[in-house]
Amino acid sequence: MKLLEKLVCCNSVSGNEKEIRECIINEIEPYADEIKMDALGNLIVHKKGAGKRVMYAAHMDEIGVIATFIDENGFIRFANVGGLNVRNLVNLKVVFTNGTVGVIGSEEEEFKKHPSISKLYIDIGADSRDEAEKKVCIGDTAMFLGDMHITGGRVVSKALDNRVGCYILIETLKRLKSVPNDLYFVFTVQEEVGLRGARTSAFGIDPDMGISVDVTDTGDTPEAEAMAVKLGKGAAIKVKDSSILCHSDVRTLMIETAKKNKIPYQLEVLTAGGTDAGAIHTTRAGVPTGGLSVPVRYIHSPSEMADIGDINACIDLLEAICNTRIQI
Ligand code: CO
Ligand code: ZN
Repeated sequence: MKLLEKLVCCNSVSGNEKEIRECIINEIEPYADEIKMDALGNLIVHKKGAGKRVMYAAHMDEIGVIATFIDENGFIRFANVGGLNVRNLVNLKVVFTNGTVGVIGSEEEEFKKHPSISKLYIDIGADSRDEAEKKVCIGDTAMFLGDMHITGGRVVSKALDNRVGCYILIETLKRLKSVPNDLYFVFTVQEEVGLRGARTSAFGIDPDMGISVDVTDTGDTPEAEAMAVKLGKGAAIKVKDSSILCHSDVRTLMIETAKKNKIPYQLEVLTAGGTDAGAIHTTRAGVPTGGLSVPVRYIHSPSEMADIGDINACIDLLEAICNTRIQI
């Protein structure tokens, strides 16, 4: 879990993926045949093989906040980068890329009446605009603070969405020897703001098949909205989310491969939320695409929770798919 901890600690809000990209390059260099970065900053790792071109995508950006205005007392107003649950933001800690830490405060009465991001501010301990401007510029992004912990067989951290997907791609790549397909492992940018990196990288690679690796919701907490996915029940094979109806041939391939290798799996229908798969499958003339998901509780909070067994099941399944001759 040391590598996962390294990945979740990177401060890489959408549009600012430099730190996580460098961390991943360091890790995969010995295992890649070729590493490229495209114009938007996607990291494209090629593992050569003779067969069909297959693209595996995991987004490396994370949700966060962006400074929009600094008032005369040094309080910083901000906007969201990616989907934030505004009600849960009060008193959370954030850290800007230069290391400046702040606490999110609220205009208490106003926020109670109208919980909106415009009633919140970041307090970095500055007394004036001048003092604040020495540390934070308009347009600077900050991530949420949420150290990684292991509790029982579970890992809790910020940014499991989607550093756990990056981790799965890296660990899979490390296990591969010669492969029967031509593989592209893509660490995409700007997923959280609209699947943007997946769109351009898929166009550039022009794959015969795509699979995105990301997190999904669960229905296994008290009074949760009904959903079949549970923590600890294995790799989730996506059937649908709001960005894609997964290609039935890809879904079948994933299910058959899991069965053949006795890898625990469950089927996922996510009613709200999309993934890179949404952008990949509508690229060019269309790409048969599926999704592999890690079930995660408390998504888009600093305390996302995943099951270590599920993570390992995803690595096992992805490895088995990489070693299967694709005939789509
Ligand atoms: Co997300
Ligand atoms: Zn995600």
